[in-house]
Amino acid sequence: MPNETPQHIAIIMDGNGRWAKKQGLMRIQGHEVGVRRVEEITRAAQDKGIRYLTLYAFSKENWHRPKEEVDFLMGLLSSYVDAKIDALFKNNIIFNVIGEISDLPEALQKKIAHAIEKTRGNTGLTLTLALSYSSRKEIVRACQKITAKVLKGELTPEGIDEGTVSANLDTAAMPDPDLLIRTSGEFRISNFLLWQISYAELYITQKFWPEFTPDEFEKAIEDYRRRERRFGHTCAVSGKNL
Ligand code: IPE
Ligand code: IPE
Ligand code: MG
Repeated sequence: MPNETPQHIAIIMDGNGRWAKKQGLMRIQGHEVGVRRVEEITRAAQDKGIRYLTLYAFSKENWHRPKEEVDFLMGLLSSYVDAKIDALFKNNIIFNVIGEISDLPEALQKKIAHAIEKTRGNTGLTLTLALSYSSRKEIVRACQKITAKVLKGELTPEGIDEGTVSANLDTAAMPDPDLLIRTSGEFRISNFLLWQISYAELYITQKFWPEFTPDEFEKAIEDYRRRERRFGHTCAVSGKNL
């Protein structure tokens, strides 16, 4: 029996720079085209009834890029939020972020906070952007929160289980991803959702992110549907998440 449509898809949107270079363009132009794909894939996910779409947009490590590129990406994010917030709201999408948002320029932080607030009451797709995100740092922050609870006597060390860790991550309100897609043919996770993807199906495509159209998205979902998810058993086990 094929798997149902995944309820949570996470995507490492990679390859904007290489795509631009291949076209004889500047890296930043690749990022611009990448934003268009974000819009299309969000719409496609909503149309397919996917509940959660989590997009890796900027990693903690990406701050080490040249200042001009970082500034351009921050500007692009800011104009994305400005341009899209009304459409996201009207399309019943819940806008969400994970990562160390306090690293972002203050004006962008305010726009993000406003977008989250505006779409809070929606009931459709939850679109989460991972910004200044590092999975290891997220896990460290979870450890700190848990330790504080233990010190306050709200929790015992023996009382800590997997659920406690999940509940203290930025993704606490979401189920784990069923499918993790990475574009641009790189076989690595780059510090994304390390805890949450323990049983996600992985799909790596050679397409660069600016080439990742809704048709390519459909191919990834079709591939996922054919997978046998065994979760350590000897045959397929239903159940969308652990
Ligand atoms: C992904 O594309 C976008 C971000 C990481 C912000 P890249 O900018 O990493 O493009 P490549 O991987 O260098 O081609
Ligand atoms: C991962 O892409 C981060 C994002 C997609 C935002 P990178 O291009 O930063 O990852 P590496 O450096 O190839 O591992
Ligand atoms: Mg890259």
